[in-house]
Amino acid sequence: MKGTFPIDKFQEIQTPFYYYDTDLLRRTLKTINEEAGKHPGFEVHYAVKANANPKVLNVICQAGLGADCVSGGEIQAAINAGFPANKIVYAGVGKSDWEINLGLEKGIFCFNVESIPELEVINELAGKQNKIAQVCFRINPDVGAHTHANITTGLAENKFGIAMRDMEGVIEEASKMKNIKFLGLHFHIGSQILDMGDFEALCNRINELQNQLEAHHIVVKNINVGGGLGIDYNHPNRVPIPDFKDYFDTYAKKLKLRDGQKVHFELGRAVVGQMGSLITKTLYIKQGTAKQFAIVDAGMTDLIRPALYQAFHKIENISSDESVETYDVVGPICESSDVFAKAIDLNKTHRGDLIALRSAGAYGEIMASQYNCRQLPKGYITEDL
Ligand code: LLP
Repeated sequence: MKGTFPIDKFQEIQTPFYYYDTDLLRRTLKTINEEAGKHPGFEVHYAVKANANPKVLNVICQAGLGADCVSGGEIQAAINAGFPANKIVYAGVGKSDWEINLGLEKGIFCFNVESIPELEVINELAGKQNKIAQVCFRINPDVGAHTHANITTGLAENKFGIAMRDMEGVIEEASKMKNIKFLGLHFHIGSQILDMGDFEALCNRINELQNQLEAHHIVVKNINVGGGLGIDYNHPNRVPIPDFKDYFDTYAKKLKLRDGQKVHFELGRAVVGQMGSLITKTLYIKQGTAKQFAIVDAGMTDLIRPALYQAFHKIENISSDESVETYDVVGPICESSDVFAKAIDLNKTHRGDLIALRSAGAYGEIMASQYNCRQLPKGYITEDL
């Protein structure tokens, strides 16, 4: 399928590489700002874990989003890209002392705290720096999302968050600590969620919790509902921008907000997923006994999602217009799981043809490894070419 990529410019770049369409990214960010902007108190943070390429971060930061970080490295990357510290939220079940200290030094907006032992350490480290740490408690809402088992996080059996029944005790505990300020509650039920019913279930649970807390005169100023909005992996061209209207409207309709309350979102995949493609070169066409293999120069080290989650990424031969044939598309890594797709239709493929693995802007480059002593793939944005 020829036509949608700047293929002449691609010929000069060492494959495999990620290509980020910053025009689509900017249109996506505009839609987010327009749709979230319709609802007072809605604040969107970008989940840096999805893609921390400095140029991509910079475009997102310029659109005015905050940052959601899960490590000291991500806090540093967000600050380097220009995100203001007071728009950074920091979550994670296992925060190291140096990471907490970094967050305190930079003056981040909020630590999303997942246990009492963690709260005690944050209080102690904040005391040493003579600072007040602002915290939200991550509550495990025991709400399942209809998505892959490895990426649901809101069930009682998951390691994430504080159980609902312990919530009031933890807030009470926090109010006694000198260097802690309680800001609100944090939730996240999973990723690649396309059924708005899952987000409605979360809203209902939050409404129950709010009533319970109100009965104990506990004020919750901030509600962070996490991220999780999915993208259409089957139709990257037809649905390049997720339905942010439906998403934000669902929360606006279902969450019973109190006066002045803020709702924070932590979107990763929905922001960057569709604007990225992994571009790889065909090395060999190999005829097996029963099938035909297209062996490409990218592997599971460059894009691990198919091997790890059996994830589907649409694959296109962007150098060929010949009639389609059936191929298994495989990488060069010494693992039998290094397969991008089995028995898919591609325009007839030859050595040297460029292949695009679509919808790879989220959890692609950032999850790459150097297994087999391979080089990490580079990322290019439209302006680089
Ligand atoms: N907030 C929290 C607390 C999270 O754990 C996550 C993702 C997000 C926000 C952003 O979620 P998103 O909007 O991107 O769905 N590597 C997997 C996805 C792991 C998601 C982990 N947490 C994949 O490739 O599908």
